[in-house]
Amino acid sequence: MADQYAQTRGDNRPAGIPVIRWEEPPEGPVVVLLDQTRLPAEEMELVCTDAPALVEAIRALAVRGAPLLGIAGAYGVALAAARGFDVDDAATALAGARPTAVNLSVGVRRAQSAHQAALAKTGDSRQAASAALAAARQLHQEDARASDRMAEHGLALLDELQSGGGHRILTHCNTGSLVSGGEGTAFAVALAAHRAGRLRRLWVDETRPLFQGARLTAYEAARNDLPYTLLTDNAAGSLFAAGEVDAVLIGADRIAADGSVANKVGSYPLAVLARYHHVPFIVVAPVTTVDLGTPDAASIEVEQRPGYEVTDIVAPQVPVMGGGGGIPVAPLGTPAYNPAFDVTPPELVTAIVTEEGTVSPVTAKGLAELCSRSRQP
Ligand code: MRU
Repeated sequence: MADQYAQTRGDNRPAGIPVIRWEEPPEGPVVVLLDQTRLPAEEMELVCTDAPALVEAIRALAVRGAPLLGIAGAYGVALAAARGFDVDDAATALAGARPTAVNLSVGVRRAQSAHQAALAKTGDSRQAASAALAAARQLHQEDARASDRMAEHGLALLDELQSGGGHRILTHCNTGSLVSGGEGTAFAVALAAHRAGRLRRLWVDETRPLFQGARLTAYEAARNDLPYTLLTDNAAGSLFAAGEVDAVLIGADRIAADGSVANKVGSYPLAVLARYHHVPFIVVAPVTTVDLGTPDAASIEVEQRPGYEVTDIVAPQVPVMGGGGGIPVAPLGTPAYNPAFDVTPPELVTAIVTEEGTVSPVTAKGLAELCSRSRQP
C-alpha cells in the first residue's frame, strides 16, 4: 500500500459499521474503508485521502466485490473533486484499477457525469464536487435497496424450485454486506432464507487463492448466526455427489449481453458440476452488473493476478500489500496461472436474479428486456 496516501486506523469497527463511508474531518474529506485484506483477524479501517490511495486499495482488494467497487469508484471521483484534483484523471485511474467488474466503471462514470453536468451548468467547482458526492451517495443507497429486492426475488425462486425441507445452498467467494451498500447479492438470499427459517445449510467454498469464502463469507455467516460449513473448493464435487446441495448461489462481476457470467474463478466448475447433478445454478446480481455493451464471453477481460497469490498462502497479517508474497507453499520460482475470474456460459445458468426480477431461461432477449425496464426514467 502506498503509505504516503493511506493510513490505517486501529481495531475500532463496531458491529454494523458500513464497509465504506465518506467523512469530512477538519483536514479535508476522506473515504474510509474497512480493510478486507485483514479480515477476519482484524477489523481495521483504511483512510484514503485521495484517489490514488483508493486505486491502491482496490488493487490490493482492501475494497472489493462488484457492487462495492462501483460505490468506491463513485466516492473516489467525489474525493478527487472535493480535494481539487483533476477529476477526469482520477476517473480514468479508478475505472482502470481492476478490469472485470463492470460496476467499477459504471460507478465512476456516474459520479464523473454528475460532476461534468454541474460544472457545465454552474461553472462552480464546489457545486460540481457536491454533485459528484450526491451521485456517489445515491448509488450507495440504490445498491442497498437493490440488495433487499434481490433477496426477495431470490428466495421466491428458491422456494419455487424446491418446496419444503429447507435449502442447502452452496456459495463461492463473498457476496454479502462486505460487497454492497446493503446485505449483498447471493449472500443476501441465503440470509433471507435463514430469517424465514428455510436455510438448512450454507456451504461455503474457501475460494482459493485469496480465501474470500473462508475469510469473508464465513465471517459474515458467523456474524449472522447462519448454519454454515466451510469446505475446500476441491470438496464441492463429492458434496454434490452426496446429494447435499439443493442450489448453487453466486454473484457476478460482469454479465455479458448473451448472459455469460464472469465471477470469481471456480464458479464455472461449480456450474458444470451443478448441471451434471441436476442442481439449479443461480446468479444473483444487480442490474448494474449487466453490461449490454459486452456481447459475449470472449469480450470479457479477465483480470490476471500475481503468481505469488498461488505459490504462497496469502492470508490476513501476511503482508500482501505492496506486491509482497505470503507463506511460500511451492518451490521458489514456480510459475503460476492466476486468473481472478472465470466465465460461465448462459446455458449452464438456471436463472439470473436481479432487483428488477428474474431471467430464466437466460437469454439475450430476456436480459435486454430486464435492462430496458430498469433504465426507464
Ligand atoms: O476478486 P473479488 O474478491 O473482488 O471478487 C469478488 C467476486 O467474484 C464476487 O463474487 C462478485 O464480485 C460478486 S459480489 C456481489
